[in-house]
Amino acid sequence: MDKRFKRTTVTSALPYANGPVHIGHLAGVYVPADIYVRYLRLKGEEVLFVGGSDEHGVPITIRAKKEGVTPQDVVDRFHNLIKDSFKEFGISFDVYSRTTSATHRKVASDFFRKLYDDGKFIEKTSEQYYDEEAQQFLADRYIVGECPRCHAEGAYGDQCEKCGSTLSPEELINPVSKLSGAKPVKKQTSHWYLPLDQHEGWLREWILENHKEWRPNVYGQCKSWLDLGLQPRAVSRDLDWGIPVPVEGAEGKVLYVWFDAPIGYISNTKELCDANPQYGNWEKWWKDEDTRLVHFIGKDNIVFHCIVFPAMLKAEGSFILPDNVPSNEFLNLEGDKISTSKNWAVWLNEYLVDFPGKQDTLRYVLTANAPETKDNDFTWKDFQTRHNSELVAIYGNFINRALVLTQKYFDGCVPALGELSDYDKETLKEFADVKAKMEQLLDGFKFRDALKEAMNLARIGNKYLAETEPWKLAKTDMERTATILHIGLQIAANLAIAFEPFLPFSSERLRSMLAMDSFCWSQLGQIDLLKAGDKLGKAELLFEKIEDDAIDAQITRLANIKKENEANNWQPDKIKPETTFDDFMKMDIRVGTVLDCQKVPKADKLLQFKIDDGMGGRTIVSGIAQSYAPEELIGQQVCFIANFPTRKLKGVESQGMILLAVNNDGKLVVISPSKKTANGAEVG
Ligand code: 2FM
Ligand code: ZN
Repeated sequence: MDKRFKRTTVTSALPYANGPVHIGHLAGVYVPADIYVRYLRLKGEEVLFVGGSDEHGVPITIRAKKEGVTPQDVVDRFHNLIKDSFKEFGISFDVYSRTTSATHRKVASDFFRKLYDDGKFIEKTSEQYYDEEAQQFLADRYIVGECPRCHAEGAYGDQCEKCGSTLSPEELINPVSKLSGAKPVKKQTSHWYLPLDQHEGWLREWILENHKEWRPNVYGQCKSWLDLGLQPRAVSRDLDWGIPVPVEGAEGKVLYVWFDAPIGYISNTKELCDANPQYGNWEKWWKDEDTRLVHFIGKDNIVFHCIVFPAMLKAEGSFILPDNVPSNEFLNLEGDKISTSKNWAVWLNEYLVDFPGKQDTLRYVLTANAPETKDNDFTWKDFQTRHNSELVAIYGNFINRALVLTQKYFDGCVPALGELSDYDKETLKEFADVKAKMEQLLDGFKFRDALKEAMNLARIGNKYLAETEPWKLAKTDMERTATILHIGLQIAANLAIAFEPFLPFSSERLRSMLAMDSFCWSQLGQIDLLKAGDKLGKAELLFEKIEDDAIDAQITRLANIKKENEANNWQPDKIKPETTFDDFMKMDIRVGTVLDCQKVPKADKLLQFKIDDGMGGRTIVSGIAQSYAPEELIGQQVCFIANFPTRKLKGVESQGMILLAVNNDGKLVVISPSKKTANGAEVG
């Protein structure tokens, strides 16, 4: 622990309760926060881990409207689902509450009121879009129109999902209200603003001068914001879902979700401490200079946690400021950005069904591949490889060998340590400095590298048994076998400690297999954690192999989602420039019946048709082999261009062109008359 502090308050971003949580959430915020908290607890430090659901904001009201339920119904459903998922993954919150709680409503409301009473806000009137039919102001997401950049329809007032541009509602072409479909009008409204410009001076010094140790991505983003110059930010909204602005005459206005959400950390602490006196008074976690505050967040939350929330805390006057804000970059999935709306995600609740009992595997893979310094990609193949070749083949294999051999040769009791060979001494020296290395990395929020050190310890153990081969020695030298297994078991006990912050479920199982009562961080690196003669627990496999079938099923699931998304995103091509009647009349389009159809040899895409065209017949080659089987069209009528120049395709002469439509899934569809028509009949 940093000497300046006595205790640590760790917060992790409150996820929106408008959908389940996925691997991106886990990798970006919750696993790193949990690793850190578990590490501090193992060290015996005083630490509080605060989480909760963010239950206000427009996306929640949109989901509720779509489903025909209330916003409260939506958040009730997802708050519980999210809370359960975190619990299943061992995210060890001291409190996980919600921003619709009565405590939060009061704490957030009082916070606003104090700033209001102290004159820390400015009030400004501006013109905003208003829906006269629905009689309400429109949040940016409630306004849709044509994107001014890519001209796609249905762009939102804050973003075009087609081209990804960030927009403001004023930029949309032909904006309409999503609520009523009416054309919105501009109307005056007044709001309270936090004058961030007035905070710029101290923020610059506090971050840019005093927190150079923050991660480069965090420091860099803050510097860009500060260099651009801060502007006042509205902290209220015209909306009917949220915490009412506690000021007379502010009916219909609520606190902006980004104002109330971070206060949720404070409310949730208060809720916990008020009900559980052993945690002490909530204020010690938020107002005592001896407390270190650390926010774990994703990169899209940096400005709110490093600039806006600190400005709120400073304006209030009695709170401490964050000492660090470790923020991760994003995790992609199989090369594409994770997207809730596109269902492009691995949902935690579904993972638990597909991979029961494998929570530690996901924690391991997400940490080994954590997006700490840049965006990273999660792939199912990498997941399988890391599990099978690292957890199973190194860590699990070592533990299994040590325990099974002890069972076999020493009746499951820790054998006695005899004289050490040079190789034993070398091995013990190798792992003596693991603790210091891991501490330095964990204290610096470098979880990925710290995990590598823990795995390295497993490698040392695995190599030690592979090279000393106690299963062979047992035939000739029991004393030497005892020494080797004694050392092996001590390394195993060390692994239970080193991996605990990362793989808590496996560490707990290992602790029980080794019959250790408990352990703490200070024991890491010691070789007397188990005593000769101690009876071990039952040996079980720590990790079991993940077979290809399970991985293939996940890859297929994602491929299907991708196909569906492509079909859903399909939009008809723009109409081509105007043509003329005369040009149209130049085309001779006719009806004919398919008499025969065959694949064109050595051409994947081509089918060769024999057509009865009412004029003696003709052959047409068409590139539709990937949309139709040859026999499918025999006997059907088709339309074709009869005066198209003859062309040779893969050696076959084609006398015309069959008319086709391209469907939204990319498949081709033949155009046929809707009733039986005479072969050779003209179309036009
Ligand atoms: O980005 C998000 O998911 C927000 N709900 C995070 C809020 S963090 C804190 F302020 F509560
Ligand atoms: Zn666009």
